[in-house]
Amino acid sequence: MSTLAQQPLDETKLHEFVMKAVGEMGAAMNAALIVVGDKLGLYKAMAGAGQMTSVEVAAKTKTTERYVREWLAAQAAGGFVTYDAATGKYTLPPEQAMALANEQSPVFLPGFFEVVGACMRDEPKITDAFRTGKGMGWHEHDHALFSGTERFFRPNYRAHLIDEWIPALGDTTAKLQAGARVADVGCGLGTSTILMAEAYPKSSFVGFDYHPKSIEMAREAAEKAGVADRVKFDIAKAKDYPGKGYDLVAFFDCLHDMGDPEGAARHVLGTLDANGAWMIVEPFAHDKLEDNLNPIGRVYYAASTMLCTPASLSQEVGLGLGAQAGEERLRKILNSAGFKRVRRAAQTPFNMVLEARQ
Ligand SMILES: C[S@@+](CC[C@H](N)C(=O)[O-])C[C@H]1O[C@@H](n2cnc3c(N)ncnc32)[C@H](O)[C@@H]1O
Repeated sequence: MSTLAQQPLDETKLHEFVMKAVGEMGAAMNAALIVVGDKLGLYKAMAGAGQMTSVEVAAKTKTTERYVREWLAAQAAGGFVTYDAATGKYTLPPEQAMALANEQSPVFLPGFFEVVGACMRDEPKITDAFRTGKGMGWHEHDHALFSGTERFFRPNYRAHLIDEWIPALGDTTAKLQAGARVADVGCGLGTSTILMAEAYPKSSFVGFDYHPKSIEMAREAAEKAGVADRVKFDIAKAKDYPGKGYDLVAFFDCLHDMGDPEGAARHVLGTLDANGAWMIVEPFAHDKLEDNLNPIGRVYYAASTMLCTPASLSQEVGLGLGAQAGEERLRKILNSAGFKRVRRAAQTPFNMVLEARQ
């Protein structure tokens, strides 16, 4: 007799779970529709425009009405737009517009759905990695991952970095205002580096990342932002980036992606000025798995399975810290690398900011 047959089934619970999974099917399919809406400017066309027909949305975005009508129906079924049956018109409510159409808003979300697309396209490689135990480096992923990550993190950095996180690091703001030397390690497309360079024009900044394509894109972004005079981007690994005497070293959402975070920490210690600060921005996590079993923890564990853990396993040591390591584990790593003073300087629902000093 099969194991299934031996277990009594609670029909109500089964029904509840299947309906929950149907909700997930809709959400998963909608990830693709969000990318479509973002790329074609459908949400932007509807933002602040009041009620619109599918014909009007299609005309405004120069797209095909039959596709737009189907897309709008899916958006209405998911609560992304409202539908008025009496007029046959659709509205993007202001809250949805803030999250889906306004690139300047602190909760602009479409970037994450580009990341989801990249994860789906890379799924065969990750499935294979489960079997072989091999890692998969950040650079080996579908390219949508790079811009998607940047677009997803940017609103968060814009909202918190200059106004909250840096001021939480003791004398760091004063040093940056006067003219300091800053290294942004694992800088990706350089958004955090550029934001700091815009805020502190007397300081000089260098962003390092081991991924050549990211560095190329970061250089272009610095040119575009008009800060290329005080920002440099170079290809380097966290364990061997050049320079000494930095007043601030920053790691944004990348320490846990590294194979050897303790080795990286030792290198940071050697490159910091004796009075310098290391700012480590990590995904927010509690120390125990059971305390991270919530919607944000779920997103992070999933991203960690597809991206962060494979990235770490692809590098030397291959610690595989995961994106939900928690403060206690991070603190142990920093302490054993030689950082004597480690404190949580700031936090948001999404991030934890640690400050480490000699
Ligand atoms: C999740 S992304 C974060 C990028 C950027 N800091 C941000 O917040 O948008 C992680 C970054 O760490 C970089 N990275 C991973 N391991 C690295 C290492 N050992 N040395 C330098 N960069 C590394 C990756 O190339 C990638 O750009």
